Parts: sequence; structure tokens; C-alpha cells
Amino acid sequence: MEIIIQPSAEDAAEMAERIISNLIITNPQAVIGLATGSTPLHLYRRLAAKGLDWSGITTFNLDEYLGVGAEHPQSYHAFMQENLFRHVNVDAKNVHLPDGMTPDPETHCHAYEEKIRAAGGIDLQLLGIGTDGHIGFNEPTSSLSSRTRIKTLTARTRRDNARFFGSEKDVPFHVITMGIGTILESRTALLLATGENKAEAVEGAVEGALTSMNPASALQLHRRAIICLDEAAASKLQRRDYYRWVFENKPPWQKIPPN
Ligand code: PGA
Repeated sequence: MEIIIQPSAEDAAEMAERIISNLIITNPQAVIGLATGSTPLHLYRRLAAKGLDWSGITTFNLDEYLGVGAEHPQSYHAFMQENLFRHVNVDAKNVHLPDGMTPDPETHCHAYEEKIRAAGGIDLQLLGIGTDGHIGFNEPTSSLSSRTRIKTLTARTRRDNARFFGSEKDVPFHVITMGIGTILESRTALLLATGENKAEAVEGAVEGALTSMNPASALQLHRRAIICLDEAAASKLQRRDYYRWVFENKPPWQKIPPN
């Protein structure tokens, strides 16, 4: 794992934006896995302002609420449209999200996996982390080799996400999410986490034991996981001075190109 600690949430977003921009510039046909939630908002704003060419880029989102249609304001379809897709020249036919209204979720989930494979796999998967350690909507006890499927949200996640829906009772119970096995097959995983409320989950993921009780700890098995944090999200890491030293002393060939 590469742990990058930045002074503020805005700086962490800028670092993530540099990593994704660099991918788009060096591989104009890249397949990028995208995430939703509050955390990537700064990142998407920066990416949108960058004016890069997204015409050859393919995207796959991590998840969608089951029973929530694309036109619903709290759907992840609507979120992505509002916060990224309408600001860049991505081709609509290259954009993929699970369909929350699918009449046959099982077939739909298999087909989603098949589309990822047909696209050549995901070059970079962006991730947030839940306060319970979820990645995508893989809640604690998710199989570490799971594939795209239906999951039931924990009470904690439904509480955390009530702010988007106005009230907790309106938050769906079920979602379609890429599995942990799906995420682990991406060539790079980029987890962005900011804020004190993520510090415990981040500590468990990075320095704790590999366990389905903290699904993000599965990234310890990932071939190239980058964990991009602000100081608050990094505040419970025992070895943060080491991670800082490593980042500041990267050899030139390993450095992330500046903006
Ligand atoms: P958040 O969600 O960015 O809204 O905190 C992260 C997540 O649930 O993965």
C-alpha cells in the first residue's frame, strides 16, 4: 500500500485528481472505476475544471441503490451526471452504473461483471470508505472474493447516508455493488478518505488485520493500492511519520506529476 497524507481534504482531493488526470493523459482509452458520496466531490470538481479529453474513457461505477431509478435525485446515476459526467466529454455509451430498477438483479450483476471484463478490466478504481470500513457497499462480513451482487446496508450506513435523503427512513435497505473480488482485480485502487470520522476505519484498513469485518482491509491484498488521506483521516495511523517520509523521498520516476 502507498499511504499519502495531505494537510487538508482539498489537498487530498488534488492529489487524487493528479493521479487520475495522469492516467487519462497517458492512457486516453483508460477504464476508470468511479465512486459516489461526499468525499469525491472536491475531486470531481477539480477533474471537471481540468478540461481533459474523456472521449475515449470508459467508466464503471461501484454501486447503486436497488429500487431507485436513474431519474431519482438521490440515485448514483443522478449524482454522477450532476457532479462529473455533464462537465466532461465522456461518451454516454462508455458510462456504466448498475441499474437500480433492473427486473432481474442476478442476471444484471453477472452482465455488469461481463462488461467490465469485455472492457479489458478496470485500470484504476476510485474508492471511498464507510465509517464501518465498507468499500463500494461491501459491508462488514462481505466475502473478500465477492462479485457484483445485491447487499443489505447496515444500520450505520443507512444513518450515515440519511443526510442525502432527508430522513433515515427514506434510505433504501438494498443496493447493487461491485464485490471485493471485483475491486481487487483493478490494476490500481485509489482510496480517498477525509475527516476524523474515517480515522478508525482507515486505521483498521491500513494497519489492522485482514478481515471481512473491515472490508477495506482487503486492499492489503491489492497489487497497487494508493490510500490518499487528509491529516484527520490519518490521525489514528501509528506509522504516519514513516508514510510521510516514504512519500517525501520517492525517487523521481515514482513521483506523481504535478498540476
Ligand atoms: P462518503 O461515503 O464519501 O459520503 O463519506 C463514503 C462511502 O460510503 O464509501
